[in-house]
Amino acid sequence: MQRKLFIPIILGTNREGRQSENVAKLLVKKMKSRKDLEIQLFNVGDFKFPQDDYGQAVKGLFPEWRDAMSKADGLVIVTPEYNHGYPGPLKAALDLLLPEYRHKAVGLVGVSAGPWGGARVIENMIPVMRELGLVVISADLNFPSVQNTFGPKGELKDEAYLEGINGFLDELEWMAQTLRWGRDNIVSK
Ligand SMILES: Cc1cc2nc3c(=O)[nH]c(=O)nc-3n(C[C@H](O)[C@H](O)[C@H](O)COP(=O)(O)O)c2cc1C
Repeated sequence: MQRKLFIPIILGTNREGRQSENVAKLLVKKMKSRKDLEIQLFNVGDFKFPQDDYGQAVKGLFPEWRDAMSKADGLVIVTPEYNHGYPGPLKAALDLLLPEYRHKAVGLVGVSAGPWGGARVIENMIPVMRELGLVVISADLNFPSVQNTFGPKGELKDEAYLEGINGFLDELEWMAQTLRWGRDNIVSK
């Protein structure tokens, strides 16, 4: 039997009361239900960043994140839109690593209070993904008006999202599988 694809999910905000957590938990549930996937959830709120250093120099302080991305086949980033950009702690967590991301698939999930579902933060993330060596899949997920999308216990109120999630995960698996084959079979110069 083929080894499962290992795809961590990172929840990109430490904001008290963040709605993005409902989105991340929904993705955890849907990804866990897929037979080909193994996942691990990371939360930028759990990263205790030093105040006097940054980036790969301090990746040793975050061995779980480093080890997960070393063995990962891909990554899902759940990011809220803050002034059309991504939260600083998410960027700080991503900047901890570099070679660990190379030639791995990334799926972007935007969350916003407004009507565009984080489309603008996703556009802003794409050049960063490229610099990190991650390969952005063609399907995104957008959660607009997120405050109206989940019930008080975090339950999804609109089943229409499920089809989009399935398509997103199908594309992510395809790209992660293809890139795994490439990493295993084609020497990278
Ligand atoms: C600093 C900050 C800036 C924000 N900027 C935007 C924005 O540009 N567009 C938007 O639709 N919502 C914006 N929001 C609202 C968030 O998208 C909203 O809080 C949503 O629930 C997702 O973020 P959350 O996970 O922190 O809840 C902003 C929220 C904060 C805290």
